[in-house]
Amino acid sequence: MDVEQLIRTIPKAELHIHIEGSLEPELMFEIASRNGIRLRHRTVDEVRRAYDFTDLQSFLDIYYEGARVLLKQRDFQEMTAAYLERAAADNVRHAEIFFDPQTHTDRGLEFATVIDGIWAALQDSPISAKLILCFLRHLSAESAMKTLERALPFRDRIVAVGLDSSELGNPPSKFAAVFARARAEGFRTVAHAGEEGPPAYIREALDLLGVSRIDHGVRCIEDPALVAELVARRIPLTVCPLSNVKLRVFPSMKQHNLRELLAHGLRVTINSDDPAYFGGYVVENFLAVHRALGLTTAEVRQLAANSFGASFLSAEEKARILQ
Ligand code: ADE
Ligand code: ZN
Repeated sequence: MDVEQLIRTIPKAELHIHIEGSLEPELMFEIASRNGIRLRHRTVDEVRRAYDFTDLQSFLDIYYEGARVLLKQRDFQEMTAAYLERAAADNVRHAEIFFDPQTHTDRGLEFATVIDGIWAALQDSPISAKLILCFLRHLSAESAMKTLERALPFRDRIVAVGLDSSELGNPPSKFAAVFARARAEGFRTVAHAGEEGPPAYIREALDLLGVSRIDHGVRCIEDPALVAELVARRIPLTVCPLSNVKLRVFPSMKQHNLRELLAHGLRVTINSDDPAYFGGYVVENFLAVHRALGLTTAEVRQLAANSFGASFLSAEEKARILQ
């Protein structure tokens, strides 16, 4: 089997996908019209043309704008169902899905509207899935703590908490107390770190937030001692190649450091981040890396194995999903 066919067919897990980032413009228009919301652009093509980003913040501004169309439980359900179907077509067998409740509760929606909609889609899902609640790091630690408290009645539906949004100037240390509380309540923890931010933020995520994975983490390479620690502790990195190029973390895919990360023995996984905004789902991310950097069949198998190994699935769940 050639590498591209292996990429398409091998069972994979996706560990870094923001559900609000899976909202394709076609569905965004449909929901906007149903909810009587006016969008800045008039056509799907116009929206897609606006997806030309210069950095993380330029993307986030448009991403939060797109999320404004989501008002009803049904909207969250349809968005999630569309992602699960699309992921299944890539032979993603399991997804650990981020959602950003503050994006919605700050607009006046109930926490329950958001999670009930997403949860309803998971009940009918063609693939296995778990939920990760992300705190928006540009907002205060108090707002994150309030969000955690709102989530407690739904704790059985949430495997972990994470940290996303504007990284620079919002270090993990800002959320140490929230994450300590989350861990005490039994949640696992992950955090975006070392996407645009420095390696010191990755160290803070490990030391102060107790994370079991680093989301992105590509800037770890600037600190050899940190790389050695990540390798020794087998901390997974959920790398998102198309995102990194679209947000100009790397000038082009040829300059992406994924092969370098693998060569250091880091536990790398490949993910789509915000597929509706960055031009592709998991298979397209693998293919883009392969076409620019060349992946061997052994590397593709390793990346796929890493995705299950780095997941929050139990041994029994993994065995069932992979049978
Ligand atoms: N929210 C959605 N995608 C994100 C990313 N790549 N980094 C930080 N926050 C995000
Ligand atoms: Zn992300």
